[in-house]
Amino acid sequence: MKKLIAGNWKMNGTEAATAALIADIARGVGRLHEVCDFLVCPPAAHLKAVRDAIRGASAPIALGGQDCSAYENGAYTGEISVAMLVDMGCNYVIVGHSERRQYHNEKDALVAAKAAKAHEKGLISIICVGEKEEERESGFERDVVESQLQQSLPKSATAKNTIIAYEPVWAIGTGKTATPEDVRLMHRFIREKLKDFLADSAQMRILYGGSVKAENAGELFAAENVDGGLIGGASLKADQFLGIARAA
Ligand code: PGA
Repeated sequence: MKKLIAGNWKMNGTEAATAALIADIARGVGRLHEVCDFLVCPPAAHLKAVRDAIRGASAPIALGGQDCSAYENGAYTGEISVAMLVDMGCNYVIVGHSERRQYHNEKDALVAAKAAKAHEKGLISIICVGEKEEERESGFERDVVESQLQQSLPKSATAKNTIIAYEPVWAIGTGKTATPEDVRLMHRFIREKLKDFLADSAQMRILYGGSVKAENAGELFAAENVDGGLIGGASLKADQFLGIARAA
């Protein structure tokens, strides 16, 4: 499976800084896209500028939202609809990121509703799962991930419209990375579990996320069932982000 290198820019950057970042990435992609697919997920406020920069450079980089509303449209102040993401040129949307689960109290049912709405409008959902530090310490990481998979994937999910991102919460933005063996075991477990509710589970991409850098990407992505990465901090520097793709 071709690896997907996805940048989650989170709530960072000015329009000018973002324009410089996408220009540097677009310039550096070159022939790397023959071995990896590229995706960037800028803040909603910068989607249009990034879309225009990608189009202007004719760069093979896809665009995604960092979240979406589970509602169609109307009186939902502050929300961004799937139709708006599509209108801005997105093909992907991240749902259920641990920061949404943690700071906005998003539960599995809402994540599933958002993913279903994304599918309805033709977007690919990147559904995030992952255990907290105390859950891993007490040996519950598989139970947590299994339950998130069961409850966050809507009935509409297929390998074509859904990607799983395994992101252990304790590894996000902390500099602590899961070991290649932790990643290999969890990704194999996820692949096995997906078989329970998907006909095409073998084709579904499973990304790893959590303190991925150019220095550790090679060993993290080497394992079977690791089909790319969801990159936070390191995606804000073009050379790091491209270095991750080169190592993949
Ligand atoms: P990080 O974030 O690479 O900064 O750990 C990953 C993510 O939250 O998607």
